[in-house]
Amino acid sequence: MKRTLASLDGHRLDGQRALVRVDFNCPVKDGVVTDNTRIRAALPTIKYLRDKGARVVLLSHFGRPKGGPDGKYSLGPCVRELEKLLGSPITFIPDPTAPDAVTVTRRLTRGAVSLAENTRFYPGEETNDPELAKKFAALGDLYVNDAFGSAHRGHASTEGVAHLLKPAVSGFLMEKELRYLGEALGNPKRPFVAVLGGAKISGKIDLVEALLPKVDQVLIGGAMACTFFKAMGLEVGRSLVEDDRVDLAKMLIAKAGPKLILPRGAVIATELTEGITTQVVRRDKVPVGWSVFDIDPATVQDFSERIVHAGTILWNGPMGVFETRPFNQGTLGIAHAMAEASRRGAITIVGGGDSAAAVAQAGVADQMTHVSTGGGASLEFLEGKVLPGVAALDDM
Ligand code: 3PG
Repeated sequence: MKRTLASLDGHRLDGQRALVRVDFNCPVKDGVVTDNTRIRAALPTIKYLRDKGARVVLLSHFGRPKGGPDGKYSLGPCVRELEKLLGSPITFIPDPTAPDAVTVTRRLTRGAVSLAENTRFYPGEETNDPELAKKFAALGDLYVNDAFGSAHRGHASTEGVAHLLKPAVSGFLMEKELRYLGEALGNPKRPFVAVLGGAKISGKIDLVEALLPKVDQVLIGGAMACTFFKAMGLEVGRSLVEDDRVDLAKMLIAKAGPKLILPRGAVIATELTEGITTQVVRRDKVPVGWSVFDIDPATVQDFSERIVHAGTILWNGPMGVFETRPFNQGTLGIAHAMAEASRRGAITIVGGGDSAAAVAQAGVADQMTHVSTGGGASLEFLEGKVLPGVAALDDM
């Protein structure tokens, strides 16, 4: 159990410079944040610190810039979005490694908020260079990590700095993510059903293996199901299949036994084009020359029944190519079943990335018990891997 911001004496935060690692790696178009979910998710920590009179210094990465500062990856759009959300001006620190950055943080008034430029503009962030971590550490009197989405990265701003600046605690978002994902794995209300999708089985092997001993059922959708179909000896036409993973799929089928539930049928087409003619077929009737792009309505019904009768449902990965209509129907169906399960009292957890986008598209995100802000981070956590950004924080 890691030390949390809530466990610190609130009175002692008055006047302190709180260095907060957030994950503002949000979609941006034409200089405007188009999905502010991650910024909104960090607000409870920022507002709490502000209300306690701390001087808030935010650090974040944005995108994957290569070779130094690049205007395309500036955090400027996030400054504007945060100002809108907080209703107060933000001090932008254009270079957190410059000597005057420390002066700027010291001059912040109590309750003021600042945001430093993209941590990935500086060599040493991704290699976790202690010298860079030292520069970051000089910007605060305590460290708060609220960047769950980046917790699987052992970088200077997520890991290195936590060893140098004490106390080093988790923020409210980090705490919430670890609690929901941790409880689902460690103490699930049963039946515990995992719904896994996405294109590739290769990216989900560790997850399937880690979840199998813990769950009562694993429902598999997405193109990933086609590799399992092939392992069963079924014709898959031109569907996306990882041929080098067919043996592995056979092994997982044998290992999982009745826990593994595969789609009964599919929505198929000859090519992936919006509005193209489709057919609904049983899984053993995919013709040569056609591809599977979604689960069929019978599978949506089957999966939905399992979901609404479960105590805990963990969902990671879309059921079809949900960016292209009409192949979004399976994924939307699962999103609605998750909402129904929530209404019946189940714990519904969405593991970030595409599935988070899907529940938002279905308009049911607010009906989930928890929608993780971490894509890769939630995957690694659920696989049972150590997250360096969490491990480096103080123990309770
Ligand atoms: C994410 O979007 O998953 C996180 O912000 C991490 O980004 P990264 O994969 O570029 O490290």
